[in-house]
Amino acid sequence: MPNHKTIATPLNIVAVSGGLNSPSKTESLIQAILDELSEAISIKVHFIKLSEIGPLLGGAIYRNQLPQRVQDDLAAVEAADALIVGTPVYRASFTGLFKHFFDFVEQTALVDVPVLLAASGGSDRHALVLEHQLRPLFSFFQAQTLPIGVYATDRDFTPEYTVKSEQLSDRVTLAVARALPILEWAPAKGQRAAATRAKTEQANQNLGINKQIEQADVLPSAAVPDLDAAESRLHPKPQKNLNHVA
Ligand SMILES: Cc1cc2nc3c(=O)[nH]c(=O)nc-3n(C[C@H](O)[C@H](O)[C@H](O)COP(=O)(O)O)c2cc1C
Repeated sequence: MPNHKTIATPLNIVAVSGGLNSPSKTESLIQAILDELSEAISIKVHFIKLSEIGPLLGGAIYRNQLPQRVQDDLAAVEAADALIVGTPVYRASFTGLFKHFFDFVEQTALVDVPVLLAASGGSDRHALVLEHQLRPLFSFFQAQTLPIGVYATDRDFTPEYTVKSEQLSDRVTLAVARALPILEWAPAKGQRAAATRAKTEQANQNLGINKQIEQADVLPSAAVPDLDAAESRLHPKPQKNLNHVA
């Protein structure tokens, strides 16, 4: 794999596993992706495991009802340069607690953030969970979901839950190789944390993000960069010749 360690600031990678078991195949899969990534570029990792924080989410509806640890994890997600997200398949979808966690993420915080999708399931037949469950969720956030996701089944792991199949290792290598050029062009290259702090503080204010949405009906498109500016970059208008005399 080419050496991409030229990125000066370590990329701030946040991993989220929706697995509820411990040990967890999903956590092992995500760890394998992180290991592969760390061989290629300099990264700083914050790994959020629903197997640890799941019980803390409880019946919270508003963000300010969550314990500080979960609020800190949400802030980490919102400040990440890139996310690696993975979930076991539960009834053909992500786990309920995985979704419950992302329900609290500020809805404009992930615009353009690269997201690598991963899942583990009992059956090959649910591999498209990456495409019909995970990708739409992160499309809602206007994140940049990476083209290659990684799906594993129970057969890919040893009884100790380490990755054993060569096919899965190859897929992890491919997913990371295809991610690297995008991560190098990641909007902030290690600088998102500072840029998003204010937004996170706002989301953490008394009402909590869900209550704000109920009250203000804010849509994520509010955060889309100015379309006129984007259009004029693509089709620059010819400069008027001011010296021209009609
Ligand atoms: C409640 C529940 C529902 C499940 N539903 C599915 C399913 O719909 N499709 C599938 O392929 N596997 C299903 N499985 C199997 C898990 O997705 C699979 O064993 C996964 O690798 C477990 O990951 P973990 O070790 O990280 O918990 C289900 C398991 C549980 C406990």
